[in-house]
Amino acid sequence: MNYRRLGRSGLKVSELSFGSWVTYGNQLGLDAARECMAAAWDRGVNFFDNAEVYARGESETLMGEILRKLAWPRLRYVVSTKFYWGITDGPNEKNTLNRKYLLNAIDGSLARLQLDYVDLVYCHRPDPQTPIDETVWAMHDIIERGKALYWGTSEWSAAEIMAAWQIAERHHLRKPVMEQPEYNLFHRNRVEVEYQRLYEEIGLGLTTWSPLASGLLTGKYKDGIPADSRGAIQRMSFLVAGLTDKAKNAAVAQLGDVAKELGCTTAQLALAWCLRNPHVSTVITGASRVSQVEENLKAADIVPKLTPAILERIDGIVAGLGD
Ligand SMILES: NC(=O)c1ccc[n+]([C@@H]2O[C@H](COP(=O)([O-])OP(=O)(O)OC[C@H]3O[C@@H](n4cnc5c(N)ncnc54)[C@H](OP(=O)(O)O)[C@@H]3O)[C@@H](O)[C@H]2O)c1
Repeated sequence: MNYRRLGRSGLKVSELSFGSWVTYGNQLGLDAARECMAAAWDRGVNFFDNAEVYARGESETLMGEILRKLAWPRLRYVVSTKFYWGITDGPNEKNTLNRKYLLNAIDGSLARLQLDYVDLVYCHRPDPQTPIDETVWAMHDIIERGKALYWGTSEWSAAEIMAAWQIAERHHLRKPVMEQPEYNLFHRNRVEVEYQRLYEEIGLGLTTWSPLASGLLTGKYKDGIPADSRGAIQRMSFLVAGLTDKAKNAAVAQLGDVAKELGCTTAQLALAWCLRNPHVSTVITGASRVSQVEENLKAADIVPKLTPAILERIDGIVAGLGD
């Protein structure tokens, strides 16, 4: 496993990491989730991604229980959480980044995770109703109170990230160090174009999500929706149109041919493609079983095989199909 710096910060994260969205508390109970986390850890993963809203807190509860049972040294692993949607109803409890919600939410997450602090805390989406300086001050205070070490954003525009950074600079507050955007072969514009200046100017790190476009980039949806897949989960029906898109599945089949030539699976090719971008600090993977963890974490071996000629071929295959 290789470790990369989280942007300009000194923190090192495994270039492939492991997240719990959809899976923990929905597809996976305690034992299966523990086996996946342990398999990832055994292969060098040191960053485990979570969020308050995943399974309405249940994902944090499971991860907390697993961390307690596995008893890894706290210095060796990095855990995150994210806030915005909230898990209870009320004007200051959901869809907000206001000070009251954020300072309350961190305590709930720490209790569920059974931790004294999280390493990374994210604003899970931008909140147009709360002044950015109120959010920046709240994130600064969470860090000053020792409840998190670094803060960042998820799916904020370049302008919003820059505004937050400048407020922090002006008031000598803790600055946002990382952003968590979607990044995969069908969704690349934000990372490759919109954020371009931020890497140099503010040293932004990236912890990217859905590297397999929820499984589409494994090739498993070419003949419809497998019964044991994310696409078959009722709550995830909003993904079905994308997962069964004919043109995208035809492109994935062609990517499968490239993968075969390189001696890897389509999933490994898609993950390696994310890893080849030096602005990516870590690619957050997801898995519903240990065999997927094992397959996915071998993707780093494929990166050296992505020559300029292969990358050009891949670009040709996905041209016009993404954002
Ligand atoms: N910040 C945000 O807004 C945000 C949003 C989404 C995700 N995230 C984070 O990013 C993490 C990863 O996102 P993601 O889960 O969407 O990643 P993904 O890699 O796009 O999809 C993972 C899913 O694909 C299937 N899969 C994975 N490896 C496979 C393989 N080798 N063969 C066949 N199927 C395979 C599994 O689902 P099935 O087996 O059930 O089909 C797995 O749960 C999340 O856990 C979360 O921590 C963040």
